[in-house]
Amino acid sequence: MCGIVGYIGHQNAYPIILNGLRRLEYRGYDSAGIALYDGENIQMCKTKGKVDDLSAKVNAEMATAGNLGIGHTRWATHGVPNDVNSHPHVSNSGDLVIIHNGIIENYTTLKKELVKRGYTFHSDTDTEVLVNLIEEIKKQENVKLGKAVQIALNQVVGAYAIALFDRNKPDEIVVAKLGSPLAIGIGEGEFFVASDATPFIEFTNNAIYLEDGEMAIIRLGREIAVRRIANDERVDPSIHELQLNLEQIEKGGYDHFMLKEIYEQPSVIKDTYRGRLLPNEGIVRLGGLEDHLEKFANANRIIIIACGTSWHAGLVSEYIFEEWARVPVEVEYASEFRYRNPIITEKDVVIAISQSGETADTLEAVKLAKRKGAFVYGVCNVVGSSISRETHSGTYTHAGPEIGVASTKAFTTQITVLTLMALRIAKVKGTMSHSDYMMHLRELELIPTKVAQALKTNDHIKAVAREFKDVSNFLYLGRGYNFPVALEGALKLKEISYIHAEGYPAAEMKHGPIALIDENMPVVVIAVNSNHYEKVVSNIQEIKSRNGRIIAVVTEGDTTVTEIADYVMEVPKTPEALTPLVTTIPLQLLSYHIAVMLNRNVDQPRNLAKSVTVE
Ligand code: G6P
Repeated sequence: MCGIVGYIGHQNAYPIILNGLRRLEYRGYDSAGIALYDGENIQMCKTKGKVDDLSAKVNAEMATAGNLGIGHTRWATHGVPNDVNSHPHVSNSGDLVIIHNGIIENYTTLKKELVKRGYTFHSDTDTEVLVNLIEEIKKQENVKLGKAVQIALNQVVGAYAIALFDRNKPDEIVVAKLGSPLAIGIGEGEFFVASDATPFIEFTNNAIYLEDGEMAIIRLGREIAVRRIANDERVDPSIHELQLNLEQIEKGGYDHFMLKEIYEQPSVIKDTYRGRLLPNEGIVRLGGLEDHLEKFANANRIIIIACGTSWHAGLVSEYIFEEWARVPVEVEYASEFRYRNPIITEKDVVIAISQSGETADTLEAVKLAKRKGAFVYGVCNVVGSSISRETHSGTYTHAGPEIGVASTKAFTTQITVLTLMALRIAKVKGTMSHSDYMMHLRELELIPTKVAQALKTNDHIKAVAREFKDVSNFLYLGRGYNFPVALEGALKLKEISYIHAEGYPAAEMKHGPIALIDENMPVVVIAVNSNHYEKVVSNIQEIKSRNGRIIAVVTEGDTTVTEIADYVMEVPKTPEALTPLVTTIPLQLLSYHIAVMLNRNVDQPRNLAKSVTVE
């Protein structure tokens, strides 16, 4: 986590860095800092709090203080969020200034050694150790900055994306990457550095994404020199053309990114299946899948690895893959999977799901599965991200940039891709009847319209939110395909409103959560038309007889549940396997409105970060 941004060129660096930090704030927002250099003086400002707090602290003189700058927005790992622990960090001589996203795991050992050599430390961070280690090596070995960085990083255990400059080299920034993302934007006589490309899209469409274990020396007037950190080998980097535009990363009239992203779902679901779903021809075609269909068709099982909301999308697809493609599926938390010596064979196919494509646990789980011989397929949103590059093949969701920390459109587009995959594999295996296959192709094409319809109930959902905004606990129940939606609904509420919420399979309620039910406990039940409808109705009766309050997500025109429930939120009629794509909409809106009414920071909820690049 943490966002880093840097600039060197002919423009005033401050507004570029500040704006860049605002765009990267989704990565962490407990403190922020900036350092600017005009070739004579280094000016620095750091603060606990958000990028807005930083800009309030920066004075007019500093705001025009140089054509070289680096900035950081932090999600604390080592040391509490305060002004001192904020980045940038400066070496003891005052010459080297660094920003860092990641963790230096062996920093205590390195620090002890540096203390013995007379170094003093002002912060509790691992980053301050790294910058002084580089300084010490530069001095002892009498080498240039780039070489010193390389030697230092070969002594370091951990993960990093770093950018640093040297007071004695006003035309140079050195960057390096292992485990955390780093993009370099190439402009006309200017260079940008950032955790993703959003800080520089209005300046250039050309970017280099450093690979793990690479470093680059960015010098004005020169070509960027990229090298492998381990062996100094020269690398010829490929220059990517960015597809991003400014509109995609702005709020576009909505109060919050989260709301904008909820409302984008009809169009991004369409973008995700466009060209891949052709109902008139009876075809589903996914570029990344076509060459590997046999692997999927012959797989003993599919293992899905993911974290957070992406894990919930994986759970939805478990039901779909098993039903249609008749292949056993296991859905694993990447963080558990990677540490328990999992049994994986070459006959297993692993699917890694990740919006950011950077989640550290998922990335490591991918590497582990590859080492064990599995074929690994990625479902990522961020193009060029680490997981998308590390997997053997994959399909991108076309959700566009998701900036709200609580994931919404990434979830529904992930389910869309996984549904397309399941249809394609079922077709190859012949495990689905032709009529069922064709019906689902046609119905999937209708999902954007149905999602748009579900969004029209927003005012009603807002009224429901008003009734329940002050409760302390919520229970979410669902069965079958909608059990994962219950988990996701509860997660959304927890994340942005800080109200405790638990998701459960509806029938499991009897084995524990029922003890919590009284007149104060709202229970959100997903009770749409399905094979389990009657059973869910019984679960609702059980709650009502204990005075629980029911908010039910029902199919339009429903009468049975509508009569018993205290409040209903309607969604259009949809074939059961596709219902998660619509039932999730009212739950997103419910969480959103409750959080807004409680005055929470919806887009940047406390303690969370969008991209979790630490374990
Ligand atoms: C963080 C985010 C979640 C996300 C999870 C997995 O916790 O706040 O919204 O679901 O990471 O992220 P990924 O990028 O791998 O989908």
